[in-house]
Amino acid sequence: MSQNQLIVPLDVENLAAANQLVTTLSDEVNWFKIGKQLFTAVGPASVNLLREAKKDIFLDLKFHDIPNTVAGAVASGTKVGANIINLHTLGGLEMMRAARAAAEEQAAELGIPKPTLLGVTILTSIDEVNFQRDFGTQRKLRDQIAYLAELSQKAGLDGVVAPPLEIEVIRKVCGSDYVIVTPGVRPEWADADDQRRVMTPAEAIAAGADYIVVGRPITASDNPREAAQTILQEIYK
Ligand code: C5P
Repeated sequence: MSQNQLIVPLDVENLAAANQLVTTLSDEVNWFKIGKQLFTAVGPASVNLLREAKKDIFLDLKFHDIPNTVAGAVASGTKVGANIINLHTLGGLEMMRAARAAAEEQAAELGIPKPTLLGVTILTSIDEVNFQRDFGTQRKLRDQIAYLAELSQKAGLDGVVAPPLEIEVIRKVCGSDYVIVTPGVRPEWADADDQRRVMTPAEAIAAGADYIVVGRPITASDNPREAAQTILQEIYK
């Protein structure tokens, strides 16, 4: 696993731009995240790029489908060499269990470690009002997030993706060993962009995040390398 807890998303549209970021940040960053934009454009070539660069890979495709289909997708993600794969907890207990079994089986067949499987609870773009309206419920958003995190643990996942303010409740429900990966992180000197309710990298780590995802403060910076170095200094000073 990596020597630090910083994950940088490759939110770019082609392989050349991804390659440039990975090369620029190679000395500072060990973990990169591939999302739907890059993967839809170039597919497993994006994963191969990171494997060749000897980087750790978070395949952020947030699978959500019937159990058999998600099991197949997770097996494929395991086969191409992803170290972290995520899926929506709203796919249900059976879907998450099937994902876990598929990752275990595929990894055993290849003789590689099982990838870390993370659940996504409720998307951070959904606030309390929209949650109650769109899901047709009186339930509090926070309670739903805690409930889904607990369900993901029961299904045998290894952790969740959670924004900074939910770290505390998830730690309480799922314990200290459950992996928490936290986006929505902003250094004080950076723009919040479209992220709401942010914490700084150091605050998110202090709150109990195992990994933080920091994108635009690094990737849109004039000097991405210096931005990454500054963030790491702020966390590990
Ligand atoms: O540029 P920024 O730091 O906002 O990027 C955050 C990354 O984390 C993006 O790739 C975004 O899709 C992802 N993410 C998020 N919130 C979630 C899950 C993933 O911001 N709840």
